[in-house]
Amino acid sequence: MSVIIAVDGPAASGKGTISRRLAKHFHFAHMDSGALYRLTALAVLEASGDPTLEADALSGAATIDLSRTGDPAIRTGEIGVAASKVSAIPAVRAALHDYQLAFITNPPGDSKGAVMDGRDIGTVIAPHAQAKLFIEASPEVRAHRRWLELSGMGIEKDKTMLLAEILARDEADRTRPISPLRPAGDAALLDTTNLDINAAFAAALALVSPRVEGALKERHRG
Ligand code: CDP
Repeated sequence: MSVIIAVDGPAASGKGTISRRLAKHFHFAHMDSGALYRLTALAVLEASGDPTLEADALSGAATIDLSRTGDPAIRTGEIGVAASKVSAIPAVRAALHDYQLAFITNPPGDSKGAVMDGRDIGTVIAPHAQAKLFIEASPEVRAHRRWLELSGMGIEKDKTMLLAEILARDEADRTRPISPLRPAGDAALLDTTNLDINAAFAAALALVSPRVEGALKERHRG
């Protein structure tokens, strides 16, 4: 059985970077589940579909191109907003559930474990995960981080607009009836507002390490 670290949190909270670094540290595989919703949104918009319509969103989910996970085209605000729309459709979540389950059950590359980040990993996708984190940060700090991230990809965007987008997406993600963004009851909470990425990673590692090391020992014994 693989060891799972579930990392959830709102947009630009630092969960992606922390997850990638945790995966590297433990030699685990990593999946950014948000990319699946973003790829679905991209497929819908490229087919001139409507991300709020179940039929359009479902054909988007059925045609996602995983080789485009690193494509900056899925990181735009427009795709983020459309991703939030398709992600509120239960049939889309069901369609993308299998990818996520397959990944954590049999992580690629013979890894002993998987780190998955998103909105509902600790609550819905992997409620049995051995370690769970819920990463937070103030909306202003998150808007600044997203601005830096986009600038690094050559995408220029006004910071006030980014903040408005983040607040709207937070609200939509937290209040939707299906798989809303919320910490699992057994998740460790980490507020990264005043932490740079190295300090945030150190804090995340300290929170998950005892559980992950314990689970790895048990896996070895079992
Ligand atoms: O990168 P950022 O944190 O802005 O967002 P993301 O993780 O790429 O996710 C984009 C959108 O997909 C989110 O606003 C959610 O609406 C949705 N999502 C979700 O519903 N469930 C997940 N496990 C991951 C993302």
